Amino acid sequence: MDTFVIEGGARLSGRLQVDGSKNAALPLMAASLLADEELVLRNIPDLSDVRSMKALLGQLGVDQVEAQDGSWKTQVGDPTLCHAQYDVVSTMRASICVLGPLVARRHYARVSMPGGCAFGHRPIDLHLRGLEALGARIRLENGDIIAEADRLKGGTIFMGGPFGSTVTGTANIMSAAVLAEGTTVIESAACEPEIVDLANLLKAMGANIEGAGSPRLVIEGVDSLSGADHSVMPDRIVAGTWAVAAAATNGEIVLDRFPWDSLLAMVDVLKQVGVRVERLDDGPECAREATVRITSERHLRPAVITTQPHPGFPTDLQAQFMTLLCLAEGNSVITEKIYPERFMHVAELARMGGLFTRQGPTVVVQGVKSLIGAPVMASDLRASACLVIAGLAAQGTTTINRVYHLDRGYVRMEERLAQLGASIRRVSNTPASSAAKTNDSAPEIEILTPPTSSAKLVKSDR
Ligand code: EPZ
Repeated sequence: MDTFVIEGGARLSGRLQVDGSKNAALPLMAASLLADEELVLRNIPDLSDVRSMKALLGQLGVDQVEAQDGSWKTQVGDPTLCHAQYDVVSTMRASICVLGPLVARRHYARVSMPGGCAFGHRPIDLHLRGLEALGARIRLENGDIIAEADRLKGGTIFMGGPFGSTVTGTANIMSAAVLAEGTTVIESAACEPEIVDLANLLKAMGANIEGAGSPRLVIEGVDSLSGADHSVMPDRIVAGTWAVAAAATNGEIVLDRFPWDSLLAMVDVLKQVGVRVERLDDGPECAREATVRITSERHLRPAVITTQPHPGFPTDLQAQFMTLLCLAEGNSVITEKIYPERFMHVAELARMGGLFTRQGPTVVVQGVKSLIGAPVMASDLRASACLVIAGLAAQGTTTINRVYHLDRGYVRMEERLAQLGASIRRVSNTPASSAAKTNDSAPEIEILTPPTSSAKLVKSDR
């Protein structure tokens, strides 16, 4: 398993383009099951979760080509393959996004129940209730969900759960309803930008969807969907992670393809904390994408953050902001409303000198002068990102084990950060022979960061 070794203290500076969005790409890729013709997706990020989805779609008869221009082209080859097996589904919860398209297009689906998650219970009851409302017959068999339907029929579905709506649940039901007979109304739908991106693809394929981005979706079913050519939106959580890394290291960076209108809640908190966020392009204020400069003058003010469904503050940036607020002058309060147990990172940050008081879903973060480097353990994707940011800002050396968590959601994170002047290197502890079995972990690459910001990649021969 790979480890990151980080020497803290470097102020991040330089320019980076934000990669394509993992949480948009995964349901977009699942929509390939709906197309009767070739589907082309562009700007898909090179992540282990994306590779898992490609493997899963291969199990489901989707032929795939990686084109020279970086686009991913698919064509359904064998529509009789309808079993999403445990070996892939257990590695990635978002595999559940194939359920709706399969039962809508092939009238049968066998999808393994997704496994547990490091930060709490993540049910799929809303997914299943939504499909039943469209006429699917659902049963559980040996840990698999079996869904069958002659042809789905439109209906009215309430997608709100005790913690708000579900993004992948909304994606699943929307992707099923586009081929249902008649009209479907989804109340309390997720409003996340990734849902808008998926709706844009489905409409390009011939679907009839109104209200994407609002809590009420109205879908007129059609008989079939054509192919399309669609580019994945930039990743708002990756963009937010880079912004926090710059802020925590007293840095100044420029981000291209920053998904401005998807991050208004985060930008608002950054400004409250005293981080300068400037748009360098002259696009409209509501532009989907912008070029943005993030500058921090170290004196950070405390903040009160409560995670909410979009357009509220995203739960996927909660851990990263906890690291930043460790360095604020005063006490901050973070309340996690989506996943009340999503605090695996607190104990690890405490090992680096962070001071916390937790009461259920709320953590009080006491500002400290600085964090101190230490060996820490990654536990889930965003908790791992927060530990990387802590290592960048800390005094001394931080080693982060099990960075395969990061490879799920960040494209070659160590290279991106080295490009901004960070002193970070990946050390592979996995013997080359078995490396291929674990998420294709990268070969040993030592990143030497000379005083200038251009990082030099050398393949160490140890
Ligand atoms: C999406 O997960 C994201 N993943 C998550 O990002 C993100 O944290 C989450 O939305 C919330 O914004 C993808 O899009 C692939 P949920 P999703 O757990 O839609 C409750 C990351 O780091 N719920 O379904 O799968 C559930 O308990 C990942 O990139 C039900 O009650 O999120 C939770 O509290 C982590 N019943 C809330 O809804 C259901 O059937 C969020 O939903 C489904 C969900």
